[in-house]
Amino acid sequence: MFSKYKKQSAAQRPAPAAAAAAPAPAAPQAAASLRKPMARKPAEAAPADKDRKRKERLGEIKVQLHGELLEHLNLAALDKASESELRAEISSISAEILEEKGVVLNREDRQTLNKELYDEVTGLGPLETLLQDDTVSDILVNGPQQIFVERSGKLQISDVTFKDEKHLLRIIDKIVSAVGRRVDESNPYVDARLADGSRFNAMVPPIAVDGSLVSIRKFKKDKLGIDDLVNFGAFTEEMAAYLQAAVSTRLNVIVSGGTGSGKTTTLNALSSFIDNAERILTIEDTAELQLQQTHVGRMESRPPNVEGKGEVSPRDCLKNALRMRPDRIIVGETRGEEVIDMLQAMNTGHDGSMTTIHANSARDGVSRLENMIAMTGIEMPLKAVRSQISSAVNLIVQASRLQDGSRRMTSITEITGMEGDVISMQEIFRYQRVGLTPDNKIIGHFTATGVRSHFSERFRMWGYDLPASIYEPARMEG
Ligand SMILES: Nc1ncnc2c1ncn2[C@@H]1O[C@H](COP(=O)(O)OP(=O)(O)OP(=O)(O)O)[C@@H](O)[C@H]1O
Ligand SMILES: [Mg+2]
Repeated sequence: MFSKYKKQSAAQRPAPAAAAAAPAPAAPQAAASLRKPMARKPAEAAPADKDRKRKERLGEIKVQLHGELLEHLNLAALDKASESELRAEISSISAEILEEKGVVLNREDRQTLNKELYDEVTGLGPLETLLQDDTVSDILVNGPQQIFVERSGKLQISDVTFKDEKHLLRIIDKIVSAVGRRVDESNPYVDARLADGSRFNAMVPPIAVDGSLVSIRKFKKDKLGIDDLVNFGAFTEEMAAYLQAAVSTRLNVIVSGGTGSGKTTTLNALSSFIDNAERILTIEDTAELQLQQTHVGRMESRPPNVEGKGEVSPRDCLKNALRMRPDRIIVGETRGEEVIDMLQAMNTGHDGSMTTIHANSARDGVSRLENMIAMTGIEMPLKAVRSQISSAVNLIVQASRLQDGSRRMTSITEITGMEGDVISMQEIFRYQRVGLTPDNKIIGHFTATGVRSHFSERFRMWGYDLPASIYEPARMEG
């Protein structure tokens, strides 16, 4: 009784069973006596399910049903079906297949199965559950059998898998074709944004050697604010007060950090200090920022399409933004030629602008900026480049993801000018590491460095009279 959603030429081929789970990492070798034994323990497993057996059995049935269902359904007709129509259709087809196979499931298992089948057909298959799970912040797929998720700063392997590489590729294709892009052997990697705003990157074989690699940074509806970050120990109340003064008095700020270190989160939180009356323009590759102000114009740059046409680069957006009378410009990440326009904007009346860069320290951040300028091909003596940077950028805030998974603002550094050919900087706050607990948690605390802010007079003039005590070196609890 397969109906209008059924393909005409349905061949009843059973789907191949899922491949065995990835092998566990090898046991550590006996370590040389002076060396600490390598803590190469297997990835932390997700909490064991109460009835794993039931799940395994369901998993097997699901794999079989997925394959059959996809072969039976007329995918082209699905677009026109309403959600309830489709759910009903899927449950009737699956009931039929189950009956044919003589499999009896209880009501709960049937519902789970039908939900998964529905996700498979309309959504992103196995990824759908993880996308809907609010405790998951990142999803990292290493081939079909290994999906890691990040929960509260910790990476753990999930119990979700794809049937095989073909299945994974089909989901990737579904995501990228929805945004008019393509990924295949000749075009093996792609960036996209999911319908819910999550950031998506995929790389497929043969460049991805052991199966497609997918990374998803989930869109968080409620971004972490300053108070949350203080509560999580990302920085202290004193540092927050300093940052408030810096942003409110329109210093130009760069948030520097490694991948996933919390740059965008920090930038977003800092933006909460901007006055509501200001006109802010944001430029991002993937719109992630969520500003609280009323007067915000958001732009998203666009890569070239399949024919290599239609690109709107961050630089194009930035140039255009300058004509749109912004009070401040926020660029999600500066990584290329837009650096020139960004620095120019910071130097010419759009003070209070902010961006992030990929670097491991404030000093390293400055070198990154120098390199980016050099890469644009503009012929400028190094001294002139540095002088441009030093007059544009006032503050570098370093975000870090430490080895225990915690994210902290490890340094706040001011750029104070030039001394000869060198950009002079002074660190105001830092995170001081002191050791490691036996279970590899970092022990440390925040402290001021004892250096008074170069901008303290400015802060005072603008009504942010920070007490001198916040600059005194003292152990501050984060
Ligand atoms: N201090 C923090 N405590 C806990 N989680 C955090 C903290 N800062 C950021 N996160 C979480 O870490 C993840 C990565 O943060 P974010 O997107 O800000 O990093 P990023 O440096 O911009 O990453 P990318 O380099 O990929 O752009 C997010 O899920 C975010 O919610
Ligand atoms: Mg980011």
